[in-house]
Amino acid sequence: MKLKKILGIDFGGSGIKGAIVNTKTGELVTERHRIPTPSPSTPDSVAKVIKEIADFFSWDGAIGIGFPAVVLNGVALSAANIDKGWVNTNVNKHVSKITKLPAYTVNDADAAGLAEMKFGAGKNVKGTVFLLTVGTGIGSVIFSRGKLVPNTELGHVIMPNGNEAEIYASDATRKREELSWDDWAKRFDEYLNYIESLFWPDLFIIGGGVSKKQEKFFEHLTVKAKVVPAQLLNNAGIVGAAMAAKLMAKAEEEEES
Ligand code: BGC
Repeated sequence: MKLKKILGIDFGGSGIKGAIVNTKTGELVTERHRIPTPSPSTPDSVAKVIKEIADFFSWDGAIGIGFPAVVLNGVALSAANIDKGWVNTNVNKHVSKITKLPAYTVNDADAAGLAEMKFGAGKNVKGTVFLLTVGTGIGSVIFSRGKLVPNTELGHVIMPNGNEAEIYASDATRKREELSWDDWAKRFDEYLNYIESLFWPDLFIIGGGVSKKQEKFFEHLTVKAKVVPAQLLNNAGIVGAAMAAKLMAKAEEEEES
């Protein structure tokens, strides 16, 4: 299978975005194509949107999917912000059945982390890097010496104030509760401080929708570690999904040979 270019898909709470990615350079070879996430976001409705995106690009190669839940060996095991029908669905098989294309799925935050570590803000950082994607939910990724610990779900920790982190401090909560940026930033800072007290990373990278808005909240962040926005901004998920797909497709080919 040719893996130099892969269709990267970022399945988000409000939009499903895709672009063809050059997996060597991490660059988008095409514009992003975005379709609003169907509601409910069932396996069938979402797989059809992915097919629509593949058709839009007349794509006939591999697809990499950044998926907003725990994914083990292609199977979704949680569904905090998506239709519960996904739980225990083999995402790879389901999307392949509808698109007729090979599909490889990874947690969305893990995808963003892979991209940022290789091409973005985490490039050449050897210590502990903690990346958070802040959007509809809060996704987490931890890298130590460049190695990923997959499927960490630290957006769901219960904070000392009794709130679940992503319900307290996600971007969706900022919008839903009509919080000012200052008020939201204080909540997010509380969360970062809690994470810092547990993991003591050298660097925090903030990705997801809010990564484009650093001027609105970075000045309120008080953690000791350095905090930077994701360099690939909102494209990290698409690029990382394609990179992860390449790794998984290669591993599959090696197993078969
Ligand atoms: C999910 C994570 C996901 C994050 C960001 C959380 O609700 O549990 O798996 O990475 O949202 O989409």
